[in-house]
Amino acid sequence: MAYKIISTAWDLAEKVGLSGKSFLSVSELSKEQLLALFELARALEPIGRSSANFLNGKVMATFFYEPSTRTRLSTETAMRRLGGSVITEATPLLSSSAAKEESLHDTLRVLSKYADIIALRHSDYDLAMDAARTAAEVPVINCGFGNREHPTQGLLDIYTIWRMFGNLENVTVLVAAADMSRGRSGHSMAMGLAKFGAKIILASPKDLPTPREVVDILISSGGQVEEVFDCTTDMMTDLIAKADFVYLPGCRVPKGTDAREEFRKRNQPYYISLEQLEKARKNGHMTYVMHSLPRFAGEFDENIDKTEHELYFKQVQFGVFARMALILSMIGV
Ligand code: CP
Repeated sequence: MAYKIISTAWDLAEKVGLSGKSFLSVSELSKEQLLALFELARALEPIGRSSANFLNGKVMATFFYEPSTRTRLSTETAMRRLGGSVITEATPLLSSSAAKEESLHDTLRVLSKYADIIALRHSDYDLAMDAARTAAEVPVINCGFGNREHPTQGLLDIYTIWRMFGNLENVTVLVAAADMSRGRSGHSMAMGLAKFGAKIILASPKDLPTPREVVDILISSGGQVEEVFDCTTDMMTDLIAKADFVYLPGCRVPKGTDAREEFRKRNQPYYISLEQLEKARKNGHMTYVMHSLPRFAGEFDENIDKTEHELYFKQVQFGVFARMALILSMIGV
């Protein structure tokens, strides 16, 4: 059994075609590569709670310039489940030489001398993309750059849909937030689904929309995109009744910032209640709720947690498998 998993995994990892490459955007992967990654993630699920010696001797450096629970710890878990080891810096602005003004470019160059792969989170999208492309000498995983993209979250979200429903082609997803300009996990998730021709409804206030560059990528990738602005609760109820999934990217900015307070103030029309979901269900339509987490109290109805509509904690588990598949295909082959 173990031998079969290992030989299947190596074959699938090669098929993904990411060996030695960075993973900076879901938009860089083809539909075929995404499906190969999902096949690999499913093949690795049986060892997702134990470990195997795929990456014995390989080292991952995780460097997170922004707070994280899920992304850093599940990426590290994935590396360890594959038999590799991890060096980590969770507070670089306090405890690394970033506090002594070392540039991101120099930091990635230095980390490349220690590690075989770097998992990076950074608040500046352009700077992080440039440093990953020009300074890192080993593959880099984008674990959330700025407001724009969070590709491993997008990958695990689509993997969750694929695992639960086995189909990405005929999906309608409602991506909704009181601020879509910073909804990086929603952007990345939609970029993946667009490759399968999915219908993507983007709902937000008109002055905090999904960035134009992201919408353009969704359309050019084959997504059927609709933008809806300044929703009322009734409008959201109607949209929920059309969607297979409501995807909430949540508020990614930390406590104490103006952007977070603004999000909180404007969230009311985007609040999803169990009643709205049950109303659609009575009319024969099942809608699932996804959220990249963390959530704040009052963001959406927590009574959904114990119902069949909940997918947000399932996403967390699928995240380890998706990240195992990604890491193995980047440095295992
Ligand atoms: N979903 C997500 O990115 O969560 P963390 O910020 O806790 O990593």
